[in-house]
Amino acid sequence: MPSVFIKTYGCQMNERDSEAVAAQLLARGYALSESEQDADVVLLNTCSVRDFAEQKALGKMQSLAGAARRQGRAPVLGFMGCMAQSRAGQLLEAQPRVNLVLGTQKFHRAAEHLETLLSGRQRQIVDTAAEERSQDAIREHLVPAGVRPVTAFVSIMQGCNQHCTFCIVPQTRGAERSRSIADIVSEVRGLVDRGVREVTLLGQIVTSFGRREIPVRDGHSGFVQLVEAVHAVDGLERIRFTSPHPKGYGDDLIGAFGRLPKLTEHAHLPLQSGSDRILRRMHRGYTRERYLDLVRRLRAAHAGMAVTTDIIVGFPGETEEDFQETVSLCDAAAFDQAYLFKYSPRRDTPAAAMPDPVPPEVIEDRHARLLAHINRIALDRFAAFVGRTVEILVEGPSRRNASRFEGRTRDNRIVVFEGSERHRGQLLPVRIERCGSFTLYGDPAIVGLDEPHPEPSPDELPVLLNP
Ligand code: SAH
Ligand code: F3S
Repeated sequence: MPSVFIKTYGCQMNERDSEAVAAQLLARGYALSESEQDADVVLLNTCSVRDFAEQKALGKMQSLAGAARRQGRAPVLGFMGCMAQSRAGQLLEAQPRVNLVLGTQKFHRAAEHLETLLSGRQRQIVDTAAEERSQDAIREHLVPAGVRPVTAFVSIMQGCNQHCTFCIVPQTRGAERSRSIADIVSEVRGLVDRGVREVTLLGQIVTSFGRREIPVRDGHSGFVQLVEAVHAVDGLERIRFTSPHPKGYGDDLIGAFGRLPKLTEHAHLPLQSGSDRILRRMHRGYTRERYLDLVRRLRAAHAGMAVTTDIIVGFPGETEEDFQETVSLCDAAAFDQAYLFKYSPRRDTPAAAMPDPVPPEVIEDRHARLLAHINRIALDRFAAFVGRTVEILVEGPSRRNASRFEGRTRDNRIVVFEGSERHRGQLLPVRIERCGSFTLYGDPAIVGLDEPHPEPSPDELPVLLNP
């Protein structure tokens, strides 16, 4: 029985794709290896969004190949995901020891290709062609033995048609393709039957879900219709989604936050820049004013709405004045959290050929200033939770301190508390006692505890959902 180790770089979509590949291989009799050292197959699921992410995966592959040679082993080595898609055969030229290059529409072919490679029939395979309905292939879930899954990610679409000028994703993930609502709902039902209480709907631009396939009904977009259909699944408690685009927040979606109680009050609204001039050059499709109006309308729709964002500093031609527009927008929007990226030129994107690149030291300086600024705003918003009682969904042992448990608030903040396995999967009121750096520390309030969920029996697991 061959063993496989999969390492994932980048976003939640990649995590989800890796999980689906792991589930597929498990179903074909593979064992999942805990370590890359002794696995028969090592796959790196790569990210291309910034050069840094690509360099990390390239370096890792080189060190895997070197270690295997020194140990006299010959594991099958493969790249999959975004860098595999965009560099394809070049990866084999640069790293001849690599056996498999599997593109973003080919994850469901992993087992078949690995079988060919492990049998020795072929030494190298590059498969990065487009494939009809590949969006339907990411549906199997994996649950480690003895663990009850509380939250799950559900891939609802692939690709993006927005073509922001800095972004490589439309090249690596292709054009927008959506799954059917019925198929997604059936996957969610299967998850809920296994104990899942929260799902996150995933895609590169989820607010464009079904834009060509699903007619608008009663003013509700395909995406809002999907959220409504998932909302109707009994036993599901919470719905999240990522990543949306600000242009996708029509009145139908904003209204859904007040209307659909399972839809949690958190909106991730990638901003990228606060300067209209830069937003135009980025091809983002909104202005500063429209963006701020959207933040105001979201906060009006739900008092507890958390708004988070992505920002790029140092886009070509960004002046200090443009940068100050971003700083002032952060003040006006009072983001609950912001992910800051230093602009990284990506091959074959329009921005990479734009004039007036910002010097690296200026990018560093703006990044440091903006980071300090948004952290101050965000930490103030965290501190405001101290003394309040909030509802958390308990996910399991804390990733920061394994002797504690953690859960998330509806608006997606992590709360660490003294808990035990019996709390897993519960919606629990906790009183926030103190606030750390982007973490809240709480004490379960002595009211209204849910019944503990039945533990899964070990022989039921690991399970494949919707195989
Ligand atoms: N909607 C997409 C966005 C992909 S990239 C998704 O989440 O799948 C995530 C973030 O990376 C973007 O919002 C942007 O802030 C950042 N990013 C994308 N391309 C970049 C580049 N060339 N340089 C720096 N940051 C980039
Ligand atoms: Fe990239 Fe813009 Fe789409 S950031 S994923 S092209 S919305």
